[in-house]
Amino acid sequence: GGVHTDQRHDSAHKHVAGTAVYIDDLPEPAGTLHVGLGLAAVAHGKLKTVDLSAVRTAPGVVDVLTYRDVPGENDVSPSGMHDDPIFAEGKVQFHGQPVFAVIAETREAARSAARLAKIEYEELPAILNIWGLDPNKDRQVVTPLTLKRGDPDAAIAAAPRRIKSSMRLGGQDHFYLEGQVSLAVPGEDDEVTVHCSTQGPSETQHLVAHALGVPSHSVTVEVRRMGGGFGGKETQANQCAAIAAIAAKKHKRAVKVRLDRDEDMTATGKRHDFVIDYDVGFDDEGNILGVDFMFALNAGFSADLSGPVGDRALFHCDNAYFYPHVHAKSAPLYTNTVSNTAFRGFGGPQGMVGAERIIEEVAFAVGKDPLEIRKLNFYDAMGAKGERNVTPYHQKVEDNIIHRIVAELEQSADYARRRREIAAFNANSRFVKRGIALTPVKFGISFTKTESNQAGALVHVYNDGSVHMNHGGTEMGQGLHLKVAQVVAEEFQIDLERVKITATTTAKVPNTAPTAASSGADLNGMAAQNAARQIKQRLIDFAAEKYSVPADQVVFLPNRVRVGNQEISFNDLVKQAYLNRIQLSAAGHYKTPKIHWDRAKGRGHAFYYYAYGAACSEVTIDTLTGEYMVERTDILHDTGRSLNRAIDIGQVEGGFVQGMGWLTTEELWWDGKGRLRTHAPSTYKIPLASDRPKIFNVALTDWSQAYEPTIHRSKAVGEPPLPLGISVLQALSDAVASVADHKICPRLDAPATPERVLMAVERLKKEA
Ligand code: MTE
Ligand code: HPA
Repeated sequence: GGVHTDQRHDSAHKHVAGTAVYIDDLPEPAGTLHVGLGLAAVAHGKLKTVDLSAVRTAPGVVDVLTYRDVPGENDVSPSGMHDDPIFAEGKVQFHGQPVFAVIAETREAARSAARLAKIEYEELPAILNIWGLDPNKDRQVVTPLTLKRGDPDAAIAAAPRRIKSSMRLGGQDHFYLEGQVSLAVPGEDDEVTVHCSTQGPSETQHLVAHALGVPSHSVTVEVRRMGGGFGGKETQANQCAAIAAIAAKKHKRAVKVRLDRDEDMTATGKRHDFVIDYDVGFDDEGNILGVDFMFALNAGFSADLSGPVGDRALFHCDNAYFYPHVHAKSAPLYTNTVSNTAFRGFGGPQGMVGAERIIEEVAFAVGKDPLEIRKLNFYDAMGAKGERNVTPYHQKVEDNIIHRIVAELEQSADYARRRREIAAFNANSRFVKRGIALTPVKFGISFTKTESNQAGALVHVYNDGSVHMNHGGTEMGQGLHLKVAQVVAEEFQIDLERVKITATTTAKVPNTAPTAASSGADLNGMAAQNAARQIKQRLIDFAAEKYSVPADQVVFLPNRVRVGNQEISFNDLVKQAYLNRIQLSAAGHYKTPKIHWDRAKGRGHAFYYYAYGAACSEVTIDTLTGEYMVERTDILHDTGRSLNRAIDIGQVEGGFVQGMGWLTTEELWWDGKGRLRTHAPSTYKIPLASDRPKIFNVALTDWSQAYEPTIHRSKAVGEPPLPLGISVLQALSDAVASVADHKICPRLDAPATPERVLMAVERLKKEA
């Protein structure tokens, strides 16, 4: 039951049987009140009059809250910019921004009363997207980042070939199954406990305390599990938590906020859409000589995490490629739309899409298979003596295994033979065309915010030998609790069932980072191991003394301990230790070594290590309608010495499909008034089971191990597989290109909906 074993998710049966407890399943305390939100009806405007009298007198309504009811600061900004009001104050900055909250006896009463508000706006000019903005001049929500190495201007100007163009890349809704939800239960005096579906309980705690105007010690935030987070509950849970807590404190009753799907999609932030401008210089072989990028991203109306998301796009604008000379800049642009936020990959996938577009441009220009151009431009392999291993942020890539991964995948996916077969098929098929692409991923692991790279854990061994485990990470379906329990079981050499998985709570482990940046197992696994080792050491010292043997003769074996020549059960040893007053509880801590990052200089060792992977996808398109199918995908992904391959394969499959959805059918669409018109599954299309590749082969590298001493030499797996979905976008592009004999780069924007594929086909036919 320890590490490197294929355990199924501890809640798998509960997930499918419907018995896993989410926030909305908790028994409601007697007298629980419910919340309905009043959302802004214009994208940008001054609030002239807000008449809530009809709302207040509606049946079942207990109270209506506005910014005036916030006892502390009316703000839940995670970035310290103070630009995320809980309730709009004086003005509204996007269509759907919460203006007030109705507190009522039932959810239905609260929701219908919310519609009775009479609000007059003085409308102001609204910026509804970034398509026409100037990234060098228009308003930005935070200082942009610039990365530079070498002399890109000169290198591009001197290069034999040069291409300058631009692409658009859409955003993405998180579409977690469980929407945003918080249940606040008031306690004595100032105290409040918030059961909240949040990836960052500590930040939720601190922001709720700030909104209430109380110290953090008065607020406890607890979460057993989320029904998916995907980054959408890294900061976006805080507003509902604050509203529930404010109302609970004011009325001394439990208060629940649960958004329905339309409100959730309208009022909470998403993945950033981007405009990527690129200018690349290269030679006739396809060697990239110099690159200049501008990554403009739609921040929405406030900073939230847009600064670091833009940064991560730049950190991944190289993907797995060495740029001899490079300049890259971000522009987190202000718009009057919902404030965009973390989403699995956190800008990294957007950066990589830029890199892969450049590869495609170069390939079409020199008339080679994009895979050849990829291989030509890879960073040097681990152990190579060359100089081609420095990133645009001046970190050396020391652990590069992409060559081997791509070589193995090329073999197992039979790339070369299928490329020939596809060419033959396309030559004989008038309307249906096929395409294939094999794309790499290199993903940097660590938060660039240094203080986030720490974790805590609390382990108790009870005197019957059972273990209670708690740590700062949160469970959103990714199997984090199971992995950390495996680490603890491994330390004590006990059965996994002996380790109890418990809810994350700020009362047990303080000041934790959000479970994000794929770092959950890396950080919390180490912290829990540290706690377990402290207890284990005390048990060893105790046994050595009691049985008069040297400490190295106390050895933990499965469910028992060998002490000198005799063996005693783990439970027995624990009982004896307890009777001898040995402390059987410990708090553990971990901080990632080696990393540093200087944003102003654009230099540092930003990432502890990299995770690698590659995907090969084949698609079929119908050139008369633009419709398509993913025929086959093969993936080879690196999770180091996996803690749990069963869980990791699930993460790779899920990440790939989510990335594919982002780049193909998931299209967010705002109308001319700034209203999101795709706010339900009827208009927003995530991949169905039937959309997954017809043949789907997913394998993990069984030969890799983390280059650094991570937890049992495993690697993070949460986000890195998402950009494997880029292989589908590139395969669609390859299929489109066949209508013009692969002479023209299709410049397919994302999401590559059937409409966009069709338009690209028609454009290429005309140009050909
Ligand atoms: N897997 C499931 N089932 N549900 C999720 O919400 N979130 C992803 C990924 N995998 C997510 C998931 C994101 S955005 C991250 S950052 C990681 O899990 C977080 O967990 P970890 O750090 O423990 O891998
Ligand atoms: N992913 C990657 N990096 C991050 C994140 C995330 O969710 N949050 C903060 N830095």
